[in-house]
Amino acid sequence: MRLAGKVAVVTGGGSGIGRGIVLAMAREGADVVIPDIQVLNAEKVAGEAKGLGRKVLAMKTDVTSAADVKAMVDRTRETFGKIDILVNNAGAAGPPGMPFTNNTEEDWDRTFAVNTKSVFLTCKAITPHFIDRKAGRIVNIASIAGPISAPTMPPYSVAKMGVITLTRIIAKELAPHGITVNAICPGVLWTDFWQKLAAHLAESNPAFKGMTARQVFDKRVGDITPMKREQTPEDIGWAAVFLASDEARNITGQALNVDGGVVMQ
Ligand SMILES: NC(=O)c1ccc[n+]([C@@H]2O[C@H](COP(=O)([O-])OP(=O)(O)OC[C@H]3O[C@@H](n4cnc5c(N)ncnc54)[C@H](O)[C@@H]3O)[C@@H](O)[C@H]2O)c1
Repeated sequence: MRLAGKVAVVTGGGSGIGRGIVLAMAREGADVVIPDIQVLNAEKVAGEAKGLGRKVLAMKTDVTSAADVKAMVDRTRETFGKIDILVNNAGAAGPPGMPFTNNTEEDWDRTFAVNTKSVFLTCKAITPHFIDRKAGRIVNIASIAGPISAPTMPPYSVAKMGVITLTRIIAKELAPHGITVNAICPGVLWTDFWQKLAAHLAESNPAFKGMTARQVFDKRVGDITPMKREQTPEDIGWAAVFLASDEARNITGQALNVDGGVVMQ
């Protein structure tokens, strides 16, 4: 029970990696708030976390909207009285590029809003509370797409590198207040995210002609992963638990690759 008595906000916790993080944190004793634009999914995961004996609040929130984020933080504090952990997990791949001229101005704006601006908005809304309490943990879900500079997804790759840089900037500013800020870079996971991306690549990219979505995904895992296996939401969940726990109190400003060895540095 490494997170007993803690309150964790996990954005986008209604599916995939976010669900993995919610359930890992709930297993370790945390009460959990699940703001997600797909509220029915959030409610389903909330039911699973309640089944583990935790208090859970699911709510419809668009993390690209400052007003929605403020309403989410206000409701969380009214309900639980405090926030200990913020996990910025909500994100989306956006339409593939390759060539990069395939991407539109709207692709860039939307991809930045959901992956990068959202981290700014939630951190801005929650850190005054963390500073008052001289405690708090922020875990930002970035991606290996940042460090590997993925040509299949230019705006996403740049947006996630931005998340890593923002993590370091906020970590420096908040370190004197006893608050840690870290990123996790997941590798390749068969969630909704990759299922949609692989289907799109299979249809639209000549490099993947005649392949099913799952074959595109397996090829990606095989091509780039030294350990030759995909990652799971549980892998990311346990890494997030560690970074939010007392055991990680001296770790800040880091980007932890949970990726079967794709990025080694
Ligand atoms: N799947 C992968 O291979 C992979 C790899 C690296 C990083 N990631 C990152 O992990 C995170 C989770 O992705 P996933 O694979 O679980 O995908 P997913 O599509 O299953 O989950 C994304 C979640 O975010 C929510 N969401 C999207 N836009 C939102 C918004 N505007 N406001 C609130 N919630 C919103 C969705 O409703 C969904 O519940 C994302 O940040 C993604 O970029 C995924």
